Amino acid sequence: MNINDPAAVIGTNAWGGKMYGKAIRGSYVEDEVIIEAMEEAKRRDIAVFDLARDYGFGKAQKMIGHFGTSDVIISSKYTPFTHYKKDCVRRSLLKDLDDFKRDYVDIYWLHLPTDIEEHLNEIIELYKEGKIKNVGVSNFTLEECERSKAILEAHGIPLYGVQNHYSIICREWERNGLLKWCKDNGISFWGWAVLEEGLLVDPRVRKKSPMKFTFNRKVRKLEPVYSVMIEIASSHNIKVPQVAMAFCASKGVVPMVGCRKPSQVNDLADASGIKLTEEEIRRLEKAADSANVKIMGADIFRAFVLKERKK
Ligand SMILES: NC(=O)c1ccc[n+]([C@@H]2O[C@H](COP(=O)([O-])OP(=O)(O)OC[C@H]3O[C@@H](n4cnc5c(N)ncnc54)[C@H](OP(=O)(O)O)[C@@H]3O)[C@@H](O)[C@H]2O)c1
Repeated sequence: MNINDPAAVIGTNAWGGKMYGKAIRGSYVEDEVIIEAMEEAKRRDIAVFDLARDYGFGKAQKMIGHFGTSDVIISSKYTPFTHYKKDCVRRSLLKDLDDFKRDYVDIYWLHLPTDIEEHLNEIIELYKEGKIKNVGVSNFTLEECERSKAILEAHGIPLYGVQNHYSIICREWERNGLLKWCKDNGISFWGWAVLEEGLLVDPRVRKKSPMKFTFNRKVRKLEPVYSVMIEIASSHNIKVPQVAMAFCASKGVVPMVGCRKPSQVNDLADASGIKLTEEEIRRLEKAADSANVKIMGADIFRAFVLKERKK
């Protein structure tokens, strides 16, 4: 598995306990099934797992540590919900490493662009100590990515990647040049929630979920997008959600999908190798643009970004 160019990434936001699964994710999946999904990911060479301390209400990290992290790629994050305080990143990373039963993480992301310099400086220290192998930023604008790249490069550290929301219906980072900037600079772009939290799936498969309930009206507006997805799925002999995954892969975006079952891992592994034609991409984009539906939205986490402190 090549860390510099992963075909796909498995999100762990949906892993967690029974209460969390049923209340937030609409269903609970037993640990044994998630372990099978992990094994399948290793067999399919997409064993890259994306984590954060709050995933699964804080359980996902402990789960993966318990299941075994010796032969997988671990991506984890520091989430600055408050302003920078000395050693805040170090304390959080040490808890991660304790959970993962490891002495390093493969990729570590600054989850939000709050106090960028201060947080990155601490990440740089941890990188130099060998506790972090690659550094990325998440939910950053192009200007914030440029700043981060310069801060890291001043210490001889490359910016590994950018992890932002991207899907058929959310392509702002392409429109405003961030995706091209990443490609031009050899920086990996990971698209999170490419299934829009399970809404860009087959509308004919009736599955209840809190997201479907919350976004019922918006889901109806997505019907023209679903129609094109269904046609493209049928011409490639794949499933409808795989069209959403293949769309990202075809655009040079690493598709990140919340997988809890072996079948979902296989869907992702297969889809990430499918190249949609220019015409198929154009039809999906046209349908998405006319539907003009925002579900998560590229700016979903901007409200959590704190203003810079006066120096
Ligand atoms: N950096 C950030 O700020 C940020 C923010 C959000 C998410 N993320 C990362 O991105 C990952 C993906 O996001 P997400 O899990 O929230 O949302 P998502 O991947 O868009 O959607 C997850 C949903 O898709 C369904 N699903 C997965 N594979 C499927 C398949 N093959 N066929 C049909 N349905 C399928 C799941 O179904 P089931 O319910 O049946 O499992 C679940 O309901 C997260 O786990 C996390 O690692 C990062």
